[in-house]
Amino acid sequence: MPPPAPVEPPTLSPLALTPVSGTRPVASEVMATSGAVGLTLISGQVAVATLDRVSTRAGTSLSPVPVGAVGDESLGTVRGLARRGTTSLVLTSTGVFLERQGRLLRSPLSDGLQLGSAKGLDVVGAGATEAWWLRTDTGLQRATASGVDLVSLDDPRGGGSVKAVVGRDATTALVVRGERLYLIDVAEPKVTALARGVGVISASARLDDGTVLFATDAGLLRVSPTNEVALLTLGELPAVRDVWADGEQALVTSNGALSSLVADTLTTLGDVASPQASGLVRDASGALFVLDGASLKRLAAPAETPVTFADVRPFFTAHCTSCHTSGANYAPVFNLTNLAVARTWAQRSLARVKNVDMPMPPASSGLLRPAQYQVLERWVAQGLLP
Ligand code: HEC
Repeated sequence: MPPPAPVEPPTLSPLALTPVSGTRPVASEVMATSGAVGLTLISGQVAVATLDRVSTRAGTSLSPVPVGAVGDESLGTVRGLARRGTTSLVLTSTGVFLERQGRLLRSPLSDGLQLGSAKGLDVVGAGATEAWWLRTDTGLQRATASGVDLVSLDDPRGGGSVKAVVGRDATTALVVRGERLYLIDVAEPKVTALARGVGVISASARLDDGTVLFATDAGLLRVSPTNEVALLTLGELPAVRDVWADGEQALVTSNGALSSLVADTLTTLGDVASPQASGLVRDASGALFVLDGASLKRLAAPAETPVTFADVRPFFTAHCTSCHTSGANYAPVFNLTNLAVARTWAQRSLARVKNVDMPMPPASSGLLRPAQYQVLERWVAQGLLP
């Protein structure tokens, strides 16, 4: 990659947000977890990663996700977790593993990667436009269906190792190297320095609208979809430990609290004594989990009102009935606006909505985001209430 233009990017001046206190849910301790390196989602469920395995929660114990087609392979050493919708990719010393129907399978694309030096992974796009961005200490690797590219980043003004990479799409990504933030475009190719003095990064997340957030020791670094950079501080102490994207909302841990951030409104949701980086997850049913010291805690969603058919019917009308009521586009006929019919088809509908390989509505109309089908997921989870 060519070096960025020799113009110094701005240093960041913090913008202070004051938290408002929300309803504080009671933290119910779920279980002790030793050696956890992070949390993620596997099939919509909270999953705990340790150095050599990824496990989902089964009641009050953890059950390892089987590795390989028959479930007898080993993962190697876990180096990074990347969320893909409601499930995850796992980067290890031996490859990148994809979750398929409750198993972790090594992707054949792993063979083209330089795994020895890979430290972290981000996934962006879906299907044919999916791209993986991997970071190493000194550069990046980008993997797409057409192969793997090695990307080097040279800036005579700024050195240091690559601390974070978050993809914007298959050709552009935000990269933190040393104390600088860059936007790289491998298609042009072009590097733009966006900011300096960004602090030490501990986690990152991408909201549905394309906003990217980095948890840093200096605050929450926010990069808008048009690449404007702001440093938000969220209370007395600047350090933000962790950030998780939940649709248009960000969940962050800082100052011993777990808060939600929507635009510039910060709401405290609960207390966390010693939050761990990459230890924050909202599962598909809407429950929040945090790695707090050596325990995995679940925070009950505040005042959760049950989902009824009246809540879920608009979802079906917006996304499904155009084909399924009439049988248009060769769709099987079932009327999802009828309670009895919808109940019969609810489980299968949810499975297809979440199935990235055979999605509903069909892939040509674009995958639905978890935030869009959460209503269906909760209707099913809460017992198909009328
Ligand atoms: C553009 C038309 C179209 C839309 C919109 C659409 N579907 Fe479908 N659906 C189809 C077609 C065609 C099939 C049969 C082929 C297949 O299974 O992929 C199908 C199959 C299904 C099946 C499997 C039926 C079976 O016999 O197992 C389910 C369940 C389903 N759709 C649910 C949904 C839900 C829920 C939505 C809305 C979120 C939706 N569909 C939106 C066209 C559509």
